[in-house]
Amino acid sequence: MKKDLRRVVIAGNWKMNKTRSESTELLKQLSDISANNDVIVVTCVPFTNLETALAVTKGTAIKVGAQNVHFEKNGAFTGEISADMLKELGVEYVVIGHSERRQYFGETDETVNLRTKAALDAGLIPLMCVGELLEEREACITEEVLARQIKLDMAGFTADQVKKTVIAYEPVWAIGTGKTATAEQAGEACGFIRSVIAKLHGNDVANAVTIQYGGSMNAKNATELLAQADVDGGLIGGASLIADDFKAIINAAVSG
Ligand code: PGA
Repeated sequence: MKKDLRRVVIAGNWKMNKTRSESTELLKQLSDISANNDVIVVTCVPFTNLETALAVTKGTAIKVGAQNVHFEKNGAFTGEISADMLKELGVEYVVIGHSERRQYFGETDETVNLRTKAALDAGLIPLMCVGELLEEREACITEEVLARQIKLDMAGFTADQVKKTVIAYEPVWAIGTGKTATAEQAGEACGFIRSVIAKLHGNDVANAVTIQYGGSMNAKNATELLAQADVDGGLIGGASLIADDFKAIINAAVSG
């Protein structure tokens, strides 16, 4: 309904895939994507490939993102990368709170909140991930889980910070499993997230927030998922590693 008010963001999450030379090859295959003011295309590459990705995509319509960021400005945090470090490189986007980080690396709603704030403070656009586990969906508590995550992950945010954050709804059971949420399930969950934001910050803010769907989105199902009124783009893992598939998803967004 209010879809035309929002940015549509199609983001590839490469995860721990592609060496620097492989990244260059894939990004070159994507470089003919034509600029479109309504659809923003982002590739979130491993830290070691950021500088290369920025150089290869220069002058193209592709924006570059990282896959994590630490919440402190600097200090004794071995192995971590700060928001200022990303910003200085020219990175514009960063994935935060992906379920793999929550599951394997101890991310909590509290650290997701801190990381998202740090990203916003540095002028990065966070792609902040939320989503329920299979057992939570089966126990019919999807809405409770999503409401809790949104409230905790965005606790203390100003309306402006909420508007700048891109939310990725990623049901954990659909990630990398080939099991996509139905378009209806995706639309419902994204609509529910928007209603939580509306309660906290009002309709104008809620209608301005981009909410992506993620979880086995591919060239075949993208059109139907992106046609949902509350789905404003996608966070794509596996299919973003194949140039033709990622381009087909972008085309689905552009013509949607
Ligand atoms: P998938 O991953 O598209 O491979 O399911 C999505 C994601 O983890 O962001």
